[in-house]
Amino acid sequence: MEKLAKFLNEKQGRRILDVGTGAGNFISLIKSVYANYEEIIGIDYLEIAVSSAQKNFIEDDKVSFKVMDALQMDFPDESFDIVCLSNSLHHLVNVHAILQEMERVLKPGGYILIGEMINNDLDARQISHLKLHHFAAKLDRIKGDVHNDTYSDIEIIEILRKESTLDLSDSWRLEYQRSPGNSDEEIEYYINVLDQLVSRVIDPMKKKELQKEADEIKDYIKKNGLDGCTTLIVVMKKWNYWKYSIVVIAKLDTNQLFIVIVLALSF
Ligand SMILES: C[S@@+](CC[C@H](N)C(=O)[O-])C[C@H]1O[C@@H](n2cnc3c(N)ncnc32)[C@H](O)[C@@H]1O
Repeated sequence: MEKLAKFLNEKQGRRILDVGTGAGNFISLIKSVYANYEEIIGIDYLEIAVSSAQKNFIEDDKVSFKVMDALQMDFPDESFDIVCLSNSLHHLVNVHAILQEMERVLKPGGYILIGEMINNDLDARQISHLKLHHFAAKLDRIKGDVHNDTYSDIEIIEILRKESTLDLSDSWRLEYQRSPGNSDEEIEYYINVLDQLVSRVIDPMKKKELQKEADEIKDYIKKNGLDGCTTLIVVMKKWNYWKYSIVVIAKLDTNQLFIVIVLALSF
């Protein structure tokens, strides 16, 4: 968290966009370490997500939400200092196209900030979360929704390197205060989540098979407890090439400048 706080607080008054905002959880995380933002906008293509996010931030007039598809955003080019995407990479139909849109609305010198839960180096309690999450993803896929299993940190970085044109400038695992254990109510809640998920399956054969899988996950959760999977943060920078070219040219002496002009004309 300290590293995220340091990164955000390097500049005050930032304009921030959170893509695929859901209920606005990533905005809450940003607000917990960065107070002096100029504006934060969250977008999601689901109306139900936007209306629940709006309820969560009703008292903050610098935070607003819009129903918008990340594949085609209504914002002009170069509108935001930071564009975020949290826990959504494994939900996207077209990662490349969405990253291109995120890059378009990002100001030169700005950052794309990715937060994504990872599937590696987890302890027994976090594996409960992973099992529950992958079970939910499987049921979403049966319904026809795009919901892949989560990735390892190496896979996330590979995807971003392949699908984004920006340079990866930093990445780290988010450190935060972890809960020491779970109350009986919390465990009961997770058991109910699994029952709810199975209750929505219509096909009786599939339901029987999934019930068996859910029961195994329930036993695992009861034995080990549950805690959230680790989050990987990745920062990518949109370099302001013009600014750097002008600085470099300004530092050249007459002879060097002459060579640069000749080379530029010969291309
Ligand atoms: C797992 S949720 C993550 C929510 C939130 N960012 C968080 O970290 O808790 C993924 C969200 O991405 C949204 N989403 C997926 N594809 C999208 C798209 N093309 N445009 C806008 N939202 C999208 C979904 O509706 C969903 O609310």
